[in-house]
Amino acid sequence: METVVITGANRGIGLGLVQVFLAKNARVIAACRNPEKATALQELAQNSALEILPLDVADEASITAFIAALEGKPIDILINNAGTLGGDKQSVDNMDYDAWVQAFVVNTIAPFRLSVGLLANLKKSPRPRIISVSSQMGSLAGEGTGHYAYRSSKAALNKVMRGLAAQLKPEGILLCPIHPGWVKTDMGGSNAQISVAQSAAGIYRLIDTLSAAKSGQFLAWDGEELPW
Ligand SMILES: NC(=O)c1ccc[n+]([C@@H]2O[C@H](COP(=O)([O-])OP(=O)(O)OC[C@H]3O[C@@H](n4cnc5c(N)ncnc54)[C@H](OP(=O)(O)O)[C@@H]3O)[C@@H](O)[C@H]2O)c1
Repeated sequence: METVVITGANRGIGLGLVQVFLAKNARVIAACRNPEKATALQELAQNSALEILPLDVADEASITAFIAALEGKPIDILINNAGTLGGDKQSVDNMDYDAWVQAFVVNTIAPFRLSVGLLANLKKSPRPRIISVSSQMGSLAGEGTGHYAYRSSKAALNKVMRGLAAQLKPEGILLCPIHPGWVKTDMGGSNAQISVAQSAAGIYRLIDTLSAAKSGQFLAWDGEELPW
C-alpha cells in the first residue's frame, strides 16, 4: 500500500487527487490549512486510509510541525499541490507587491521546503516520487502577459524542481513539475477545459507510470512533455 502526501487537499485539484488515490487503495495524508473546516475531507476520512493533518505552507512553524508529525513514516509520493494565484492586482499599472511575495512563498519556496524536509521519509520508499503542481502559465517558452506574480512564481518552481530532479536522481527519487490542465476549480473558473476528476485521473496515471527517463521533465496532466 503506497502512502501519498497531498498539500492543499481540502478543495479543487488536491481534493480530486485524494479521491483518486483512495480509490486506488493508497494511504493518503491530506494536508490543509483548516482540517476542522474541511468537510469534504472529513466525509472521506470515514475511510481509515485517510489521515488529515494541518498545514499552512506559508508558515514555517506549520511546515516544521507537519514534518515532525510524519517523522519515521515512509512516504512514497509527495504532491506539492497547494498554490495561490497571488492576488487580483498583477498588471503593469496595478501590482500588489505583497501578494507577489506571498505567491513566491506558497508556490515556490514551500514546495522546496517540504520536499527537502520529507526526504528522509521518501528515502524509506522503494519508489519515491515528488510531484509539484506547477502551471503552463510559468513556461518561459510562452509569451503570455499579465498574472506576473503567478507566472514568475511557477517559472521559479519549475527551475527549483528541475534542479532537485537532477540532484536526487542518483538517489532514485523521481521528480517532476506538472501542469494539471486548465481545470474547473475556484482558481481555474467555470470556463476551464477539464473537470477535477479528469485532471486528477491523468495526474494519477502520470505518477503511477513515472520513469527515471521522464524525471526532470515538465509534463502535462495527460503525459505530454511541455516546453520549459
Ligand atoms: N485550476 C487550474 O486551471 C490550474 C491550472 C494550472 C495550475 N494549477 C495549480 O494547481 C494547484 C491547485 O489549484 P486549484 O485549481 O485546485 O486551486 P484552488 O481550488 O484555488 O485550491 C487551492 C488549494 O491550495 C490551498 N492553499 C493555498 N494557500 C495555501 C497555504 N498557504 N497553505 C496550505 N494550503 C494552501 C488552498 O487551501 P484553502 O482552502 O485553505 O485556501 C486550496 O486547498 C495550484 O498549485 C495551482 O496553481 C491550477
